Amino acid sequence: MPQPRKIIIDTDPGQDDAVAILLALGSPELDIVGISAVAGNVPLKLTEKNARKICELAGRPDIKVYAGAIRPLVRQLVTAEEVHGQTGLNGPQLPEPVMKLQDQYAVDFIVETLMREESGTITLCPLGPLTNIALALIREPRIAPRIKEIVLMGGGYFEGGNVTPAAEFNIYVDPHAADVVFRSGIPIVMMPLDVTHKALTTTQRTQAFRKLGTKVGIATADMLEFFERYDEGKYGTDGGPLHDPCVIAYLLKPELFKGRHCNVTVETASELTMGMTVVDWWGVTKREKNAMVMRDIDHDGFFALLVERLGRL
Ligand code: BDR
Ligand code: CA
Repeated sequence: MPQPRKIIIDTDPGQDDAVAILLALGSPELDIVGISAVAGNVPLKLTEKNARKICELAGRPDIKVYAGAIRPLVRQLVTAEEVHGQTGLNGPQLPEPVMKLQDQYAVDFIVETLMREESGTITLCPLGPLTNIALALIREPRIAPRIKEIVLMGGGYFEGGNVTPAAEFNIYVDPHAADVVFRSGIPIVMMPLDVTHKALTTTQRTQAFRKLGTKVGIATADMLEFFERYDEGKYGTDGGPLHDPCVIAYLLKPELFKGRHCNVTVETASELTMGMTVVDWWGVTKREKNAMVMRDIDHDGFFALLVERLGRL
């Protein structure tokens, strides 16, 4: 087998972030160099703790978890307890983590890792607001050409937004950070709502996790049953969109996704459309193509991959 691909997961768990972390932990093709937590779905104190809970659930207390930005670059923090519950991980009863949080600031960890490891070998996987990534790029611009790729969950175009009519949550929470990242020149793969709204946690799919009969399988089903109730009410669907695992699934099986390379610009001025990802899908501007914007997913293949990999934990 080739060398596992080195990734840093930047995250705000969040049940769907948790499933993304579990998918990475169940996949030998990936080497998680570290997990950096950011404020988003819930405040930082909870997201860093939730990341540790998930590592312990998977029997991996050796994974290094770092705490990063406590708030967005410019705007006030907006959280999403109505979706994820007060802890961010409502659903299963997970014990308080025993593994320690790393002392190093997540932004320093990202910079140091990129400057130390061979150039072009580290992939960043942001699953929350892009604050930590933007701060790292501002602190040490020399990291930009050393990053292999950024595969992120965020934005929406044809589907519109999920937190305002125009904006998706991760980009809305820190649009200025997103702007820094999309202007960085780093190769970006974007998993917007256009993809994730097609990856629904139907009853049958949630049951498939439960039927694994393992601690991870049962906890995952409990997380998803809590998480989906909000979106089922909102969208009138059986199940909710399983956003963040799309990022990790892409690293494992890119053929599950289809999209187009185009320009993406982030709205940071208008309050009405704040955080909108303006995708030049039809190439009507001369703006440089800066992201592979995904639009379609083989959702059955995606869930089959998830069940198989979580079943290994
Ligand atoms: C994104 O926002 C969060 O609520 C989810 O974890 C996901 O990263 C979807 O808009
Ligand atoms: Ca997230």
